Amino acid sequence: MEILDEAAKEKMRTAGRLAAEVLEMIAPHVVAGVTTGELDDIMLDHIQNQQHAISACLGYHGYPKATCISVNEVVCHGIPGIQHLHNGDIVNVDVTVIKDGYYGDTSKMFMVGEVSLRSRQLCRCARESLYQALRVIRPGVPLTVVGDVIQPIADKAGFSVVRDYCGHGIATEFHTEPCVLHYRNTQLKNFILKPGMSFTIEPMINAGTWKCKVNKKNGWTVTTADKQPSAQYEHTLIVTDDGCEITTRREEETDIPSVFHNM
Ligand code: MF3
Ligand code: CO
Ligand code: CO
Repeated sequence: MEILDEAAKEKMRTAGRLAAEVLEMIAPHVVAGVTTGELDDIMLDHIQNQQHAISACLGYHGYPKATCISVNEVVCHGIPGIQHLHNGDIVNVDVTVIKDGYYGDTSKMFMVGEVSLRSRQLCRCARESLYQALRVIRPGVPLTVVGDVIQPIADKAGFSVVRDYCGHGIATEFHTEPCVLHYRNTQLKNFILKPGMSFTIEPMINAGTWKCKVNKKNGWTVTTADKQPSAQYEHTLIVTDDGCEITTRREEETDIPSVFHNM
């Protein structure tokens, strides 16, 4: 995996800020009645014409849209289209931009109108599990720390951790090794973090079973096997000398710093 030098880190910061800024920009548009396709159009226009950046998703292995928008029981890779948002929906918007050859990948949940207590708890669980994982990232630790932190948070809330999709190395390519597992595992025990590594953490937390199904017609959309809702948050980070730096932090995230000192 790539070890980033200072110039590469600066490019990661730029790409990450742009990806975060897309989520900040789209927030007021995520309301009942809008279609996911309209949201995608607004984001693509912003990425191309305001940011002068590239959507990493558009055309990626044939993916047809600029972003992923995953509503309720959709776990990830929801394809924007004619679907209208309704009061009570929970919506993940996942944005990946390329700027100057480097990638920023991030997602968050939006709640439309009044959302059930259980769905609110699910979104909070996904966010907090990501935040707690960010607190244990530092040089010298094995990447198993991610699953060691996230799994018990989901367990305690009565939710489950998706096993079929993982975080990933990211820098000048979208998805590289390692596969950052969010559930408790032993596979990653020999993957020891070093300064300058960059990867995503992006826990998908399901209200019911962790099992997922891929839509056979479009080959992309992943739903929960039991149709219960799913929530996800994602950040891109760089391992520093004493913790990690989040490249995709949004201004609204006043409860986390951009730079974690975890030693
Ligand atoms: N952004 C997603 C991730 O977090 C990947 C989306 S790939 C796409 O890794 F082709 F579906 F857009
Ligand atoms: Co990702
Ligand atoms: Co993503």
